Amino acid sequence: MKGIILAGGSGTRLYPMTQIISKQLLPIYDKPMIYYPLSLLMLGGIKEVLIISTERDTPFIKTLLGDGTDIGMKLSYKVQTHPNGLAEAFILGDEFIGKDDVTMILGDNLFYGDISFFRDAVVAHQKRTHGFNARVFGYYVEDARRYGVVEFEKQTGKVFSIEEKPLEPRSNYAVPGLYIFDSRCVERAKNQKPSKRGEIEIVDLIKTYLADNELGVTVIGRGVNWLDTGTPDSLLDASQLISTVQKRQGLMIGSIHEIAYRMNYLDSAQFGTLIAKTPKGPYRHYLERIVQESTD
Ligand code: G1P
Repeated sequence: MKGIILAGGSGTRLYPMTQIISKQLLPIYDKPMIYYPLSLLMLGGIKEVLIISTERDTPFIKTLLGDGTDIGMKLSYKVQTHPNGLAEAFILGDEFIGKDDVTMILGDNLFYGDISFFRDAVVAHQKRTHGFNARVFGYYVEDARRYGVVEFEKQTGKVFSIEEKPLEPRSNYAVPGLYIFDSRCVERAKNQKPSKRGEIEIVDLIKTYLADNELGVTVIGRGVNWLDTGTPDSLLDASQLISTVQKRQGLMIGSIHEIAYRMNYLDSAQFGTLIAKTPKGPYRHYLERIVQESTD
């Protein structure tokens, strides 16, 4: 399974914060936003990730994350010249995806809590346990109108419909920006016609799988937080939640370095080298503590 993080967009709702910097590089409490979606992919066991962003922002993201060696990952980059829609990621990712399955996560989607739902979905998808070639997730929200909305039969998980930002949602289940596809998504995206707003829509791509009875849905339970980061208020709320939980537990959420160590993407010696390169301060101190506690 390969991973794609789509970190494009102009972040207009966050202007002027995004006037000179990508939304996905803004902080969520004590880390850049993009750490969080990357950490979910890592926790799902994914080691090869393509990061897609704008011409302006790709160099900055590259400076931040490099080729991934530091965290035992293989990271590569691709520029999306124009915001042509979410499904364009698969066209841009053609070579990268090859014949593999792929998970795409949007760079501003944060998940926090028991993320075994994702790990299980990745494993099930690879084994085709449920026979589906594409999978979306459903998250219960009060008002689903701002999102993709999936309507399905609770008992069997059979999907009836999926709609983008409907005025009258057919269910309360929003579709987070996290999708799993087989490699055929590339050809399907290439054959897709742009929508009225001129974009290659992810929902239209998903609908092709639905039409072929190849779409599964995984409900994300209420124990998981799926956070929004699109507006100044939601950005602040996300920061406050991360800060509150981290202070209470003394453990970090979304530390890609800690995860690399705990997932054995790095051995102890490599993690030691990484720590030595980390500037002295609370973040380094935290990583040192992780080592100490795991050897106690
Ligand atoms: C996108 C998708 C939408 C999804 C949402 C999740 O919308 O088009 O289906 O529910 O991400 O964050 P956007 O927020 O980019 O308008």
